[in-house]
Amino acid sequence: MIYKSSTTAVPEVPKVPRHVAIIMDGNGRWATKRLLPRVAGHVKGVEAVRGCVEACVERGIEYLTLFAFSSENWRRPQEEVSLLMRLFVTALEREVSKMHANDICLKVVGDLSRFDPKLQDMIANAMRKTANNTRLTLTVCANYGGRWDIMQATAKMVAANPGLTEFTEEMLAEHLAMAYAPEPDLFIRTGGEERISNFLLWQLAYSELHFTDTFWPDFDSQSLDAAIASYQSRERRFGRTGDQVAKKS
Ligand code: IPE
Ligand code: IPE
Ligand code: MG
Repeated sequence: MIYKSSTTAVPEVPKVPRHVAIIMDGNGRWATKRLLPRVAGHVKGVEAVRGCVEACVERGIEYLTLFAFSSENWRRPQEEVSLLMRLFVTALEREVSKMHANDICLKVVGDLSRFDPKLQDMIANAMRKTANNTRLTLTVCANYGGRWDIMQATAKMVAANPGLTEFTEEMLAEHLAMAYAPEPDLFIRTGGEERISNFLLWQLAYSELHFTDTFWPDFDSQSLDAAIASYQSRERRFGRTGDQVAKKS
């Protein structure tokens, strides 16, 4: 199924966001504030993910996309990077069966080739196991970058159409890593920074942006509701005037 693009058509505006995409930021500062090592913040962050997934299911959100590790996060100290990888493995070991029992489809997107082959296998198995689940699609972006995504999609499009000289948005978009999902209605970044940090550059074209100072480990169902309430207070115009939008509804 190919979803409507917000730049080539005017998409539906669901009351409850259909797709929520989150930059889970502030784990390190959450820990530092408590005089704990940064990794303690990441451990707490995994718990917050569990709570957030449950809250999204309860609210009828269909797609939840979480930025877990960016293509630039390799620049962190080696020790923190390996701890994050270990946490990823443990989370998969502990959570995949529960996700499957709860009808959650797990997708992991990004350049996975740089991960340990064992981790790559675990990811492939988890995705295969949960592929037909329909209650919520949980996408974890790992070694993901918005520019990487546009580049890899362009390469695939060219490979699929030898001698290509002209192309459309749709032809490129079908090769993006998240072509299976509609564009995010709501983007949330925790931790106080107000930037995209190379997340879904293409897909965030018309998403509503919500920034909160709450550190990710403290992000709970009330924080999610505050973000949804903020989303519901916006007028999504997609280039049209407010009058045009009012007449439509
Ligand atoms: C987000 O928290 C988690 C990852 C990037 C893996 P940070 O680790 O960036 O936390 P801060 O921004 O340093 O507080
Ligand atoms: C963005 O957070 C990436 C993830 C949350 C995985 P960062 O903490 O890495 O972003 P910057 O470096 O502050 O922009
Ligand atoms: Mg950060």
